Amino acid sequence: MTFKQRVIAAVVRQFGHPRGLGGRAAGWVMAHRRSNRQRSTWAASLLDVQPGDRVLEVGFGPGVAIAELAGHTTEGRVYGIDHSELMLHKAYKRNAAAIRQERVELIRTSVDQLPRFDLPLDAILAVNNVGFWPDPAEQLHKLRNLLRPGGRIALASQPRCPGATKDTTIRAAQELRDLLTGAGFTAASVHTLDLDPPVACVVATNPANGSTGQLRRQ
Ligand SMILES: C[S@@+](CC[C@H](N)C(=O)[O-])C[C@H]1O[C@@H](n2cnc3c(N)ncnc32)[C@H](O)[C@@H]1O
Repeated sequence: MTFKQRVIAAVVRQFGHPRGLGGRAAGWVMAHRRSNRQRSTWAASLLDVQPGDRVLEVGFGPGVAIAELAGHTTEGRVYGIDHSELMLHKAYKRNAAAIRQERVELIRTSVDQLPRFDLPLDAILAVNNVGFWPDPAEQLHKLRNLLRPGGRIALASQPRCPGATKDTTIRAAQELRDLLTGAGFTAASVHTLDLDPPVACVVATNPANGSTGQLRRQ
């Protein structure tokens, strides 16, 4: 591996699990880079959450989308999970008022160790983190089991690898769509936000008939 490749790998690791000084820098970029904020707000809007909805965000980072979702779910609840202690701390600060009002609950855990929820969820969001999950197909199946029939999921991706282009985004969207379909979600639609590189967000539904999908594993 060349020096440049090692640097890139170290930076990617910080976005996958922010910690220490490098993690603070990655968290700052996630919270303040204009395109990052735009993509989070836009992806959250595609879920069309209603005031009473119960929504989960996986991999909330500094909590920008959590704040956006909480602004819409005034009578519901927003849950967030992220395995980074540093991001939990940052997102807590950003959403302190809503947490005090018990409208937001943030939990430090990995997507492969999902918490229990007392009631089914109405919607699930994940922005730029499916690629970091262990066995995404299996996690998506488990996430589908948390949704009510008719509940929605939105997976957004803005490829940040060096040299990423519109084609990289198109391929990422296709991969997300295939994963969702394989996990038993239906009515998958691809939406695009024209940034550089573009953001793709695939929105899909948990079918009302409770089909178990092709990849059921427990
Ligand atoms: C690139 S950041 C994106 C953060 C935020 N969604 C955004 O778009 O600004 C990826 C986030 O996903 C979290 N993450 C990665 N793998 C995870 C896993 N297995 N379980 C929970 N969170 C995870 C990381 O800690 C990080 O906060």
